[in-house]
Amino acid sequence: MATGRGRLLLQHWRGLLALHWPPGGVGAAPGLAGEAPGPAGFRKRPGTSYAGTATLKQCARRGRHYKQPSADHPASLESFIWIRIYSTAFSPKISNWQVNSAEKTTVSMNLLSVEDKEAGYWKKEYIAKQRASVKAALARVLKPVNPYTGLPVKTKEALRISGLGWVIILKEKNGKEYIMQHIDLLINDSSVTIIWYGRNWPQLATLSTLDLCGVTPVFRDRSKPPSKNGPRWLSLIAKYNLSNLTESTMIGWDRLIRIFCLHPGLLVGLWKREEELAFVMANLHFHHLVEKSTLGSATVPYELPPHTPLLDDNPEYGLHGYQLHVDMHSGGVFYLCGTFRNLFTKKGSIENGYVKLVVIRFKNNTEHLPLIGKVGLSWRTDVFSGCIKSCSIMDITLLDEYGKPFWCLSSPVCMRSSVPSDGPNFLGQTYCVDYVDSEGKVHVELVWIKETEEYFIVSLVLYLKIAKINHWFGTAY
Ligand SMILES: *[C@@H]1O[C@H](CO)[C@@H](O)[C@H](O)[C@H]1NC(C)=O
Ligand SMILES: *[C@@H]1O[C@H](CO)[C@@H](O)[C@H](O)[C@H]1NC(C)=O
Ligand SMILES: *[C@@H]1O[C@H](CO)[C@@H](O)[C@H](O)[C@H]1NC(C)=O
Ligand SMILES: *[C@@H]1O[C@H](CO)[C@@H](O)[C@H](O)[C@H]1NC(C)=O
Repeated sequence: MATGRGRLLLQHWRGLLALHWPPGGVGAAPGLAGEAPGPAGFRKRPGTSYAGTATLKQCARRGRHYKQPSADHPASLESFIWIRIYSTAFSPKISNWQVNSAEKTTVSMNLLSVEDKEAGYWKKEYIAKQRASVKAALARVLKPVNPYTGLPVKTKEALRISGLGWVIILKEKNGKEYIMQHIDLLINDSSVTIIWYGRNWPQLATLSTLDLCGVTPVFRDRSKPPSKNGPRWLSLIAKYNLSNLTESTMIGWDRLIRIFCLHPGLLVGLWKREEELAFVMANLHFHHLVEKSTLGSATVPYELPPHTPLLDDNPEYGLHGYQLHVDMHSGGVFYLCGTFRNLFTKKGSIENGYVKLVVIRFKNNTEHLPLIGKVGLSWRTDVFSGCIKSCSIMDITLLDEYGKPFWCLSSPVCMRSSVPSDGPNFLGQTYCVDYVDSEGKVHVELVWIKETEEYFIVSLVLYLKIAKINHWFGTAY
């Protein structure tokens, strides 16, 4: 980004920046510096995980009160620092980013009036500009869409460019906060699984909420892995209420662990004996992942741009030309990976506010599919590891007739023993997997075939909220 003395100056003041941050101004959190191997892990091979040392740092900030610039670093000096950083980063000759000529003019005009600018102006100006250029770079990278998945082709590249990582912020009832940087990361075709574990979790009883945030470095030198110590930008993805770890959200267990699923996509593992946190696993679908992880603020999630209804060419015929991609996996092992094209519904197939989209029919056994391997959700901490039988992560990518992602999710699910909906099944014991959120439902029925020791999917049905369909197509079913 900078050369020679400029770089030295920059390095020096980065240290200072990490200490001084405006109250509530931006979501960057000083004190994120941990031993965790951060986003540099994106350089690793896809589908491989890596381990690091568990770090759980009690952040210096409490209740988001950042330390104000103090007397030993007077405001005018701060302003001087920021103008240097700003001009170093955005001077046309050495810029990493493309700055158009109108912007260049603004830069030099602004340089003339330094004295007039209040303290903090250049900091804000720098951060705004830096974020705008990252946003533009990301928009370019995310533009090409894979017609097969409907998702950006270069999500991994975008993750690398932005230097993106993820943190969880555990909040105590008394307002104290703990920030924890992710430890393991698994990236696949349609989702990313992010894992936290450690030995020094705060006591569960003292905690109220868990915030999941994307974290991007404010300074990004693309030739190097992101620095762990610099100021960072937080983008809230989801907020979870830890009082909700109750019997109704518990989805599975093994000898040591009980797992709870909090919507959307969060898995919380508690030690069975102590009822204390063992690990946290966040599952994020690629659809709008980069935007959600970088473009929100520490307190307000990124808001998707308003949707312009796509006009359905012939509403009389209901939904048609849909494509579903479904994965069931855990720890980089895939139990199911299927694409189903030309899905359709007749207008009549509306039940209780949902449109029913049948993907695998019980009656047609050529459509039935086996799950490959021994299904289980693998977990590990720095001391123990295990596998929770019959559970996995399910990724759903449903594309509309125009190939646009219509409903996407990544969530832990577990099989439950069930009574088959289409009467008794003589093939074997039947199971089901159910997923529900505010937009739709997934219902899968499986049969355990003893002879081959395999689960077979004998029915797969999606139920889509009519309100969602009407919103998407501007229809009135
Ligand atoms: C996803 O995981 C599968 C199975 O481990 C692997 O074969 C595939 O290459 C992975 N895809 C990506 C994009 O990481
Ligand atoms: C807690 O769980 C209940 C039911 O399980 C759900 O209705 C509610 O939205 C959850 N609250 C939060 C904050 O997650
Ligand atoms: C979390 O849920 C509990 C019980 O449902 C509720 O009493 C509490 O107010 C919620 N906390 C937050 C921060 O939403
Ligand atoms: C059964 O499924 C196969 C494969 O999808 C399909 O080609 C065939 O038309 C289906 N048969 C019936 C009666 O729906």
